[in-house]
Amino acid sequence: MDEVEGLFPVPLLRARKLLNDGLVTALRQQIRDAHTQTNARSGLLSHTQIVGPDANELYRQVTRVVGPKLVEFGVLLFGDRLGWAIKEMWTNVLEAGGSQSMHAHANSFVSGIIYLSPSHPSAHTVFVRNPGASEFTFRHNTGTAQMGPFNAGKWVTPDIEPGDMVLFPSYLLHEVPRNQGGQRITLAFNAIPDRLDSWGYTVSFGP
Ligand SMILES: [Fe+2]
Repeated sequence: MDEVEGLFPVPLLRARKLLNDGLVTALRQQIRDAHTQTNARSGLLSHTQIVGPDANELYRQVTRVVGPKLVEFGVLLFGDRLGWAIKEMWTNVLEAGGSQSMHAHANSFVSGIIYLSPSHPSAHTVFVRNPGASEFTFRHNTGTAQMGPFNAGKWVTPDIEPGDMVLFPSYLLHEVPRNQGGQRITLAFNAIPDRLDSWGYTVSFGP
């Protein structure tokens, strides 16, 4: 019997309904009352200020719920239960017709997105294989070619509900295609471990 090994996969954690409806509603209200800045590349995308996880009571509640998930995800990345801290949080409001261009998050190890509204299927977060990866640069993209984890260039987050969260390595490129539905609201954050150790040589990180 032949065996196929999925070598060096990239983890992405999905936590369904991580935030309860009450917290989701309260966060949406807080965003509605907050001062927002328009995205540099899309006038239909705006962000609240980037702040620390203890900036307000609702963010503290989110941080308490997300914390154990960061530890769990950190085991996948580094094989150990490390101390994790969210270092910044912000929210994104994407109006109909808006999009978010492809990007990754710098100076961070784990990033997360929590959905605070329904997301029209056209605007589900798309994760993109690094186009600069050291592998074949030939593609076989036809209407009939079967796509799987070894040849797909993109992965679209399926069936998103308010309160759901995704965690992913911060280097992973992602984007939001043009939103063909209603207003879409997300909370995003970046997280770092307190320290990493390679045979006694350690590096420490602080917010
Ligand atoms: Fe992002």
